[in-house]
Amino acid sequence: MRTRFQSAIGFGLFVFTLGASNAVGAQDASTALHVRANAAMCANCHGSEGHTVKDSAVPSIAGLPRDYMVQQMHAFKDGSRPATIMHQITKGLSEAQITSLADYFAAQAR
Ligand code: HEC
Repeated sequence: MRTRFQSAIGFGLFVFTLGASNAVGAQDASTALHVRANAAMCANCHGSEGHTVKDSAVPSIAGLPRDYMVQQMHAFKDGSRPATIMHQITKGLSEAQITSLADYFAAQAR
């Protein structure tokens, strides 16, 4: 028996697929959304788009060189750079998240 709930899911998927196939660069849009969602994890401390207020204990990361950030996040993750917080944060990040976050913050104006 097909419940109303199942039909609702089916319809939702249909609308979603339709929307996704119509949107120009839907793949890019959903990837960008995903990266922004990841970046939001960092905003609590690093500020939105990576800007912290002057004299903050947390460094601004907006506009830092991408490779530098990837390197630093690896160093936090493997413990070679001492940290108060970032070693915990980076522990939970995949390689893909590290590189996409570095791309994202490197692209922000300083
Ligand atoms: C709970 C607060 C907090 C969160 C959340 C946080 N950071 Fe940090 N971040 C810090 C602090 C504090 C430092 C300085 C190093 C330390 O003490 O851990 C830092 C340092 C850094 C550095 C090194 C900057 C430099 O100038 O060398 C990078 C890169 C960085 N964070 C990236 C991120 C990214 C990407 C995220 C999101 C996944 C994130 N951080 C989330 C607090 C935070």
